[in-house]
Amino acid sequence: SGAFTYDPGFTSTASCESKITYIDGDQGILLHRGYPIDQLAEQSSFMEVAYLLLNGELPSQSELDKFVTTITRHTMVHEQLSTFFRGFRRDAHPMAILCGVVGALSAFYHDSTDIEDPQQRVIASYRLIAKMPTIAAMAYKYSLGQPFVYPKNDLSYTANFLRMTFSVPAEEYEPDPVIVDAMDKIFILHADHEQNASTSTVRLAGSSGANPFACIAAGIACLWGPAHGGANEAALNMLREIGTPDRIPEYIARAKNKDDPFRLMGFGHRVYKNFDPRAKVLSKAATDVLDKLGIDDPVLNTARELEQVALNDPYFIEKKLYPNVDFYSGVILSAIGFPTTMFTVLFALARTVGWVAQWNEMISDPAQKIGRPRQLYSGATQRDYVSVDKR
Ligand code: CMC
Repeated sequence: SGAFTYDPGFTSTASCESKITYIDGDQGILLHRGYPIDQLAEQSSFMEVAYLLLNGELPSQSELDKFVTTITRHTMVHEQLSTFFRGFRRDAHPMAILCGVVGALSAFYHDSTDIEDPQQRVIASYRLIAKMPTIAAMAYKYSLGQPFVYPKNDLSYTANFLRMTFSVPAEEYEPDPVIVDAMDKIFILHADHEQNASTSTVRLAGSSGANPFACIAAGIACLWGPAHGGANEAALNMLREIGTPDRIPEYIARAKNKDDPFRLMGFGHRVYKNFDPRAKVLSKAATDVLDKLGIDDPVLNTARELEQVALNDPYFIEKKLYPNVDFYSGVILSAIGFPTTMFTVLFALARTVGWVAQWNEMISDPAQKIGRPRQLYSGATQRDYVSVDKR
């Protein structure tokens, strides 16, 4: 019937009430629990932001220490989980591995699947946040055919992840503070973004009472798409394909051509119509990090020129298309040493904090119901079945 509001892509439907993240897309404002994203990215740490998103307030020093200790103690994965990896092809995309392995956590941590128990919900949240870097690093190691590296409890969350990713038995990786800072900043900038597609997926999956590991696996699946988290991989691949600034006009022309499905990856956003505040932080961080590491990557110059050309082009001005969080992150991740196939995995790792915070908020909301959108039916009207010999 026509009694429902037709809103494809949910451009004007609020699916929930939330106290976690505020976005004003016209003014380019992003606040987590009231705190501006640029202040958090410049001054805070990923663990502190995780605590903030989960609990609503910034932690005191002792609260932070306790939180970090708890997360650190959950970083190991069950030894049997490593056999699960071996079922994947060597050349499997790490997002495929992540999706499968995180879903499989439901089978390893049965106690945490009891969503009626608030204590178990907290433990499930900690397990997910703590084990994600371990699983992400294992996915990477598996693709290289290198042995898995166990977490080391005296390192920070981010340094631990980098060590598990880049250490080999013959050579211990000593995380450079410049790299740890940059990685931590990228994690903060990806931690939450209110009701984006993957977070809505987590909430929808969770609304049926599904366990948190299954819900986060659903979020990972959604994030993988090139219109969402997969854009960081696509953006860097595009910048490399463009190669030199003289080829920019060709790609701008393609992006503007309605008969060509090509889009400028890392450009445009459903909500930000002025600028993406995360892109501003990352644009500056890209220069800082490459300078400090002494890397001269021509891709950064291509990115800067492409941004300028697009921002001055009537098509992009009229449609209010600006660089988003994915436009500059790839340049930094590549300088750190990650292959493009790992980019979306890193996004998922950071976004797990937001997914888990939003899932907890939903489960504790008395107004929460199973998500069940309606539709506008435009198919055949009722008709009688005809047997196959008469068709
Ligand atoms: N290049 C060229 N044209 C574009 C682009 C782009 N990147 N983005 C949007 N447009 C055009 C689009 O063709 C459409 O034109 P028209 O009105 O003539 O049909 C208009 O702008 C509006 O686009 P839309 O697809 O209706 O807008 P949306 O809000 O549904 O899509 C988006 C938002 C992010 C999916 C889209 O801008 C896009 O595909 N961008 C490239 C992929 C990307 O960078 N995604 C990362 C998003 S931020 C991180 C995340 O969420 O994971």
